[in-house]
Amino acid sequence: MAQRRKYQTIEHDWPRFFREYPEVYDRFSGHSETTAAIISDMFGLDDKVVLEVGSGTGIATLELAKRARLVIAVEPEETMMRVATKKARENGITNIAFVHGDGTRLPLAGNSVDCTVTVYAGPLSHEEASRVVKKGGFIIRAGNHYRWYGGELAPIIPERNRAIGHGYELDRYLRNECSYSYKDLWVTHTYPTLEEAIETYGFIFGSEAIDYLVANDKKSIRHKLRIFYREI
Ligand SMILES: C[S@@+](CC[C@H](N)C(=O)[O-])C[C@H]1O[C@@H](n2cnc3c(N)ncnc32)[C@H](O)[C@@H]1O
Repeated sequence: MAQRRKYQTIEHDWPRFFREYPEVYDRFSGHSETTAAIISDMFGLDDKVVLEVGSGTGIATLELAKRARLVIAVEPEETMMRVATKKARENGITNIAFVHGDGTRLPLAGNSVDCTVTVYAGPLSHEEASRVVKKGGFIIRAGNHYRWYGGELAPIIPERNRAIGHGYELDRYLRNECSYSYKDLWVTHTYPTLEEAIETYGFIFGSEAIDYLVANDKKSIRHKLRIFYREI
């Protein structure tokens, strides 16, 4: 209990997290970089025009931009996008177009991109994604496996707090009603110190996570990822 009191936590309040703590989000989401690299390899994104929806602080965006011709990064939250644009500017990256927008009403013309990518991201409607992707292109959605909200912390997170992730309903909808294929894999994010892991994962996932990290001296957290994809 003394451990819990020492650390600040927002207990799964993701919208507030995105709005008020983008720098902590950026520290949390290192595994998005690995995920984006896997997607680039899996789908051969070299020289492609990629639409990334829910681009956040740009962790996946910058990785996708290493291979793609252009990444159009759509994000509704101003504070998150500010971190992403700063990183792109500081790294001299010029093939990312940052666009304020929403994945259910994309600010893009039909048949305008080679693929859409979402990495642990907010809503992107299947209809909108199908509208903007050119024939032969792919819709690619990477997120937590629905049983693994919080990665390996899932078993200790109370059911009531399993706030986001693909969720079983979306998982079923994409597989059964929209004919997506999928691939499951694990990715790991390692922090330099236990303190940093607690200040990040404990901050997001709350008191149970803090206790677990301390008890197990946990600096590395594994995430079970499900990558859905569908050709248009
Ligand atoms: C978990 S973060 C993922 C960020 C980034 N893709 C990454 O992997 O680090 C989810 C992002 O989706 C954004 N988001 C929320 N609602 C959205 C919507 N309706 N359309 C597009 N993005 C949305 C959030 O603001 C947030 O930046």
